[in-house]
Amino acid sequence: MKTKYYYHIVTFGCQMNVHESEKLASICEKMGYALTENREDADLIIFNTCAIREGAEDRVFGNIGALKRMKKQNKDLIIAVCGCMTQKQQTADYMIKTFPFVDIVIGTFNLANFESYVEAVKHARLVKQKSRQLDLWNEGEIDESVPYLRTSGENAWVNIMQGCNNFCTYCIVPYVRGREKSRKKENILSEIREIVASGKYKKITLLGQNVNSYGKDLSPQVSFAQLLKEICAIEGDFKVWFMTSHPKDLTDEVIEVIAKEDKILKDIHLPAQSGNNRILTLMNRRYTREKYLGIIEKIRQLMPNCRITSDFIVGFPTETEEEFQDTFNLVKQVKFDSIFAFMYSPREGTVAAKMEGQIADEVKNRRVNELLNLEKKIQKEEGKK
Ligand code: SAH
Ligand code: SF4
Ligand code: F3S
Repeated sequence: MKTKYYYHIVTFGCQMNVHESEKLASICEKMGYALTENREDADLIIFNTCAIREGAEDRVFGNIGALKRMKKQNKDLIIAVCGCMTQKQQTADYMIKTFPFVDIVIGTFNLANFESYVEAVKHARLVKQKSRQLDLWNEGEIDESVPYLRTSGENAWVNIMQGCNNFCTYCIVPYVRGREKSRKKENILSEIREIVASGKYKKITLLGQNVNSYGKDLSPQVSFAQLLKEICAIEGDFKVWFMTSHPKDLTDEVIEVIAKEDKILKDIHLPAQSGNNRILTLMNRRYTREKYLGIIEKIRQLMPNCRITSDFIVGFPTETEEEFQDTFNLVKQVKFDSIFAFMYSPREGTVAAKMEGQIADEVKNRRVNELLNLEKKIQKEEGKK
């Protein structure tokens, strides 16, 4: 009889998912499973999925499909799928139908109960009953009960909020992650005190879809600037970083705190998405090109050496060549330290997916390459300086 059992987690998507996989890892270890990097050796395989673009979803489908063969070889294998894709009812239904060998399908709000789903599958198999566990979309409180098994070296992720209220018209996140909920300041501070006291971590990265709106839902309200100040007041040798900032909520006060506090890394990820005001309005970003450039100027005034990075989407519905040039010129003007550029990917259920004037893939492809080539050229020039 087997005496040692292994788990394997495949994580797609953003840092939030990476961090949530650390929670799943801690539950797996508590159940007595040991980590394996090799999928073939695993008795429990978990896919933590991402729904942000079609490409991300296709990768997940491909990966899950490939497991059918393994399930035939190892009848005891348990396969679980969680994360943002399962939060979409249609995608969850499709997966449940298409991949009958998947044992557990759960949403992002159900992770803390992971052990109970695994136990239920095992029990059902023992008594030779149907063992599928499905538990989806159960928007609830932020779980504070399960610890994290930290896996990112000297960096410790700390979630400060979950969800998003912004409803950018292209984005699926508000639909799969629910409304913004901030963690209590005291819980965040005590988690960070523990991280610092352990002496194992040099960097603490605060996570949220929109960290600048931290605390607006708490009573009494706490601002992100206030949270940053209190974190920096914790004694110890560590640096603080955070992502992601939304330009509409990045206040002067936050910029001033970043400038003033030695513990905060001078490194801001500030997604612009577009450099054209008509497209920004259609995207529901709620800032203008001028406002965005004003924020960059303020950052550079106070911190001339601050690293600034950004995200862009090209080929948003109805984007003309001239409007794309506005984005191109913004990138040229700001000279970001690095950018991500994405081809717009229609997400079912979002406002933009239903808009007329969807742009052809060839056009999106050309625009994304133009932007990335520009970025390469800028980096080369800046490097020479
Ligand atoms: N909360 C973060 C973004 C998270 S998603 C923020 O507001 O900045 C990360 C990036 O994916 C976004 O910045 C955007 O550039 C890109 N993205 C989101 N939805 C997309 C879509 N439908 N098509 C292409 N790119 C998208
Ligand atoms: Fe998506 Fe916009 Fe929310 Fe970011 S702020 S997660 S892009 S809806
Ligand atoms: Fe993807 Fe969900 Fe993050 S959709 S980008 S894993 S919040």
